[in-house]
Amino acid sequence: MYICSLCLIMSLWKLSESGFSFHCPVQSHWKHRAENNCGSVDGYFCLFNRNEHYFTEFCRKPPDFEAPGQKLIVAGSSNGTLQGADCNSDFYQPFKFLSSGNSRCVYEKSYCNGEGLVTSSNGTLENDRSCRCDYTRGYNFINQPKHRCYCVPSEEDCSCHLKICPSNHILSPDYECLNENEWKPSFHCDSISTVVLSKDPEIPLSTDKSSMENYVQANRKAACVAVLVVFMLILSVPMIFVVLPILEECLCRMKRKHTEVDEKIASLIAIEKSSLKKQIDAIDFEKQELKGKICKLEDNIEKVPYHVLGKICVHQIVHAFK
Ligand SMILES: *[C@@H]1O[C@H](CO)[C@@H](O)[C@H](O)[C@H]1NC(C)=O
Ligand SMILES: *[C@@H]1O[C@H](CO)[C@@H](O)[C@H](O)[C@H]1NC(C)=O
Repeated sequence: MYICSLCLIMSLWKLSESGFSFHCPVQSHWKHRAENNCGSVDGYFCLFNRNEHYFTEFCRKPPDFEAPGQKLIVAGSSNGTLQGADCNSDFYQPFKFLSSGNSRCVYEKSYCNGEGLVTSSNGTLENDRSCRCDYTRGYNFINQPKHRCYCVPSEEDCSCHLKICPSNHILSPDYECLNENEWKPSFHCDSISTVVLSKDPEIPLSTDKSSMENYVQANRKAACVAVLVVFMLILSVPMIFVVLPILEECLCRMKRKHTEVDEKIASLIAIEKSSLKKQIDAIDFEKQELKGKICKLEDNIEKVPYHVLGKICVHQIVHAFK
């Protein structure tokens, strides 16, 4: 612990007592707020108050330090005693804590939540969490980490992949494919003692000693994926059967509308045609009648004496009706 008791003589006053809603400024706003409130970055503090359980900000000089793995908190609200305290379990502080710019430990710990990743160690106050690939489920590192047995997500790529071993071989804690018969009494890397694989009570918890079983589990997972894919394919077939008829019906409906319009046009044309035909027929009939009349007239003309006929040109009349 590194308490700067000399600083207590310096002026101290709280700038904010807004309680639970108050959050210390984020990094990008820190300088602005510090300069606004205290005139300089060095004189501005924003720390957790242990007694009142909220963050509080105040101005005081000079800035304060704390050892790696520690942060500063306000221990006494009345006289503003500062104290060192461990980082929260999800944070770590690999170097000296400095009050100007920080309200808590500087880094948040990584999570081992990639595919096949498990926690190797929860880290320390000064170090990040480390992860490893779960060999009990057949996972190996894609890139060899700096330390052979674990990797640190904040420093390197921790991706895992399923390593395919020859038949009758399984992945060892050292990430080698080993036959059951050549299984070693000890390995360089620690074994993963218990890994919860499934909430199904019928599937036992996997341990290092039942590695064969673990291998089966890994394969079972692959099989599960395959079954899922097949299931989705099967699901997609009825989808086709459901969607296709709907599309078909839509098309039919559109077609039907088209044919309805076509039919209407056709019937209109037919009506028009038939009325025209009737008119033509009527005209033809009239023509025929007139022709008959003309013939009668011609017959009569022959009986009419020639001098009467003189001014009538029957052929001209006939021509006019043709
Ligand atoms: C003020 O700080 C000192 C530590 O320097 C502590 O011993 C004392 O109890 C504090 N007083 C109050 C009233 O909190
Ligand atoms: C890490 O911490 C969690 C909970 O804090 C605990 O369940 C887990 O066992 C720890 N893992 C290791 C490897 O220490």
